[in-house]
Order: sequence, then C-alpha cells, then structure tokens
Amino acid sequence: MSLKATLIPGDGIGPEVAAAARLVLDAAASSPISWEECEAGGDYIGRYGKPLPDETVQSIRRTGVALKGPITTPVGSGFRSVNVELRKRLDLYANFRPARTMPGVKSRYDGVDLMVVRENTEGLYSGLEHIVVPGVVESLRVITEKGSERIVRYAFELARRQGRRRVTAVHKANILKLSDGLFLEVARRVARDFPDIEYDEAIVDATAMRLVMDPASFDVLVMENLFGDIVSDLAAGLVGGLGLAPSSNIGEHAAMFEAVHGSAPDIAGKGIANPTALILAGAMMLHHMGDHEGGDRVERGVIQVLEEGSCRTADLGGSASTRAFAEAVAAVSST
Ligand code: NAI
Ligand code: MG
Repeated sequence: MSLKATLIPGDGIGPEVAAAARLVLDAAASSPISWEECEAGGDYIGRYGKPLPDETVQSIRRTGVALKGPITTPVGSGFRSVNVELRKRLDLYANFRPARTMPGVKSRYDGVDLMVVRENTEGLYSGLEHIVVPGVVESLRVITEKGSERIVRYAFELARRQGRRRVTAVHKANILKLSDGLFLEVARRVARDFPDIEYDEAIVDATAMRLVMDPASFDVLVMENLFGDIVSDLAAGLVGGLGLAPSSNIGEHAAMFEAVHGSAPDIAGKGIANPTALILAGAMMLHHMGDHEGGDRVERGVIQVLEEGSCRTADLGGSASTRAFAEAVAAVSST
C-alpha cells in the first residue's frame, strides 16, 4: 500500500524545510508515500495569473492531505493570503496547534503541554472590509452558530481522543456580547455532550496573562480565529519558539499540515532554517492518515536528536544545516 500526499514547498525557507521534512517522512512512514508536488505563492502569478493554481487545490482534494511550506503574503495591498485562501476553499475549519515542552530545548517553562484549537474560516478573517467614508473603515467579524458548533465539537473530540482533562472556551463576551455571546452559548451546549471532559471559560486578555505566568494551568483551549492566531503564537513562544511549532488545518474532506512560522526571508536560501516545525507537522500528517507508528517514529527522532544536543540549527544555538539536522532525525526515525 502506498500513501498519497500533496507537497507544497512554498517560498522563502519553504523549499528548504519541505525537502527536510520529506526526507524524514520518507524514512519513517510505514508504507511509501507517493507525493504530488504542487505550486503556490506569489512567484507563480506570472504563470497562472493567480498565486493559487487550481491544480494545487485539485491535488489536495484528490489526496485528502497536504504538507505545506510557508508562503509569503504581501502586507497592506497585493494578493490575498494563499494560506487563508486554501483554508477557505478546502473548508479547513479547525486549526490545531499543540505546544509542548521539548526535552533539551531551553524555554521559560518546563512541563508545558497545551493545545490551542482555533476556528479557521470566520471571525475577522472573513475578508469583509469596506470604507464607510474616507477615514473610516469597517471590518466585519462574523461568528456563526454552525462555525462555533463544529470548532467546539472538534476541540472536545480531540480532548477525548488524546485523553485530556479540560476544554477552556476563550472569549471576549463581556464586550462582544452578541458574537462571543453566541460562541459561548454554543460551547456550553456542546460541553453537555462530553460529561467526561471538564469545561470552563476564560476571557482572552486574562488568558494571555495567565499563559505567560502559569501555562501549566491550561489544557485544551478553543477560540475564534483572531484570538487563536495570537494565542497560538504566544503558546509557541512558551516552548522554544517558532522553529519548533507545528500546526494542522482540518476539514471534513481534506487536511493541511504546516509550520506555524512564515517564510523567514531574512534567512532564506542559506540552508540554516530549523525544519523541526514542518517535520513535526509531517508527524501529525502521518497520524491523520492512520500511520500512528510512522508518526511516533518521527516524533521520537526529533526528540532524540534535540535531547542529544550535538546537532542543532542556529536558532537553537547550534551550527547544523537544515539538511544535516533532517538527516540526523531520519537516521533515528527510520528504525
Ligand atoms: P517568520 O515566521 O517568517 O519569521 C519570524 C522570525 O523567525 C524571523 O527572524 C525568522 O528568521 C525566524 N524563523 C522563522 N522560522 C524559522 C525557522 N524554521 N528556523 C529558524 N528561524 C526561523 O515571520 P514573518 O517574518 O512575520 O513573515 C514572513 C512571511 O511569511 C510573511 O510574508 C508572512 O505573511 C508569511 N507567513 C506565512 C505563513 C504561512 O505560510 N502559513 C505563516 C506566517 C507568516
Ligand atoms: Mg499567525
């Protein structure tokens, strides 16, 4: 049997970390992966007239899974984020980011083990903005019952599957009484279907402070799009930074796995980027495809190489190249 997956290398450090992740996954997967390599990003506008070619979306629809390197998004003007467009077109509504202390990696806290579940398709990322009159702009924050229901349900099911204790709904319903009020109302209703999991609520600003002061007091957190974008980067920072943080975007019919970090133009092309985040995203992909042994082998490889400490990329204080790190992980993960 062979597993099919779409690979989007992306731009900036994307092709470097994607090649590294592919090397590790090919070594660790229980059966061979047949990759469909696809293009996306600003470099392809000349060829396709748009940054996200239809062929790429069709490939993900066909394979059901994609591993994606970061893609640069122009700020202020220019084309809409390819990442946001992929999430919308494939309806990848659940963005799940684990943040776990890695052995041997220096970070502010030991024993952090939390999961951020972010709604991925609505909120302030609906792309509905308009100029009311010159000097006044409105951006619409859309919260729906359906969108809230499926993301909260995803968080509870994830909690149950992974043997977690508690789900916290993060909100600002004291101010956003209607929109976050609806989110909370739905969350309370869904929570009743999961009597084995504790449920509580926390206001987003207080959550930010508590995460920085006492991250171990959280387990699974679920929230709307913008709050989740910010809180999940904060959580990544608690456990050693962007180079280590993987992310998955899950829908009914497709799933896309990527790093939390961006295309890092400052270090692109030098072969020094840390590929850990995308390698760990690849492990999540193997688990999603049902290859739990392969996924475990990838995680074991990363943990062992980081813990051993002699082969590290520059962001973690070492001097190993992207490729050398991946080869060290692959050597462990293949056994
Ligand atoms: P960034 O994450 O690319 O870089 C922030 C800092 O972290 C830089 O100093 C960079 O060198 C460092 N860094 C990031 N990943 C690293 C890695 N794997 N190894 C070592 N160091 C690493 O964030 P930035 O600069 O804000 O964004 C750059 C571009 O990436 C933007 O165009 C942004 O829109 C895009 N982006 C794309 C994402 C995606 O494709 N999902 C996610 C986030 C940003
Ligand atoms: Mg972000």
